[in-house]
Amino acid sequence: MLSLDLLKIPNHIAVIMDGNGRWAKSQGKDRLFGHAAGVEAVRDTLKAAKEFGVKYLTLYAFSTENWSRPQAEIDGLMDLLIDAITSELDSLENNGVRLLTIGDINGLPENCRKGMENAIEKTKENKGITLILALNYSARIEITKAVQSILLNEKNISIESITPELISKHLFTKNIPDPELLIRTSGENRVSNFMLWQIAYTELHFARIYWPEFRREHFIAAIEDYQNRERRFGKISEQIHPII
Ligand code: IPE
Ligand code: IPE
Ligand code: MG
Repeated sequence: MLSLDLLKIPNHIAVIMDGNGRWAKSQGKDRLFGHAAGVEAVRDTLKAAKEFGVKYLTLYAFSTENWSRPQAEIDGLMDLLIDAITSELDSLENNGVRLLTIGDINGLPENCRKGMENAIEKTKENKGITLILALNYSARIEITKAVQSILLNEKNISIESITPELISKHLFTKNIPDPELLIRTSGENRVSNFMLWQIAYTELHFARIYWPEFRREHFIAAIEDYQNRERRFGKISEQIHPII
């Protein structure tokens, strides 16, 4: 029996997909084998998210810091990205998935950028679920660019007009609600420069499992964990559940 309360499904779930390299090592394989295996976990997670009515699923796929990895791994990851988006495009189109990206996709190799732009264009009318890939993403750069964008684009800017709402409107995630739940796999308990602004009140779930092994049951467990939290937003418990 499904243990989830279908009326309390998060609207937006974000995932730091971590542990591909360590999983591959545990199998006696090279790191790229782990990244390739991670694609299956993406498929499974997207399917489950759609099934449960999650509206936005954000996946952290490549950080700006990841450019510091060995060149062969970076090249392999970029090839995998373009292969995955090309081979999955039909399925995204037919399953009502709208694709978006956050991060600086102009910094990706030309074929990756074009593949992403093509997939975004082809899926833009889809209404089922929005899949957001964080690519060449850094939260600090996102916030920095937001400040630059305000100075560049907002007319007659005054000190008082700079508000959290205005900053939100200049982030990569403008028009996307903040995630209620952030999952990180692999047992690392850190956020690694991911959505620092947007996760101010997000519930965090750290799964010990490596990303290539992450499946529907782990996704359900994360949502179940979320559903057992009391989200107080600064209030006290009695205000959330008044005794009448
Ligand atoms: C996550 O897995 C994928 C990316 C960062 C691209 P890792 O490649 O970080 O795997 P570990 O953390 O080294 O095991
Ligand atoms: C975070 O994982 C980035 C992605 C999942 C894309 P990393 O493996 O790069 O994070 P750190 O370096 O261990 O913090
Ligand atoms: Mg890692």
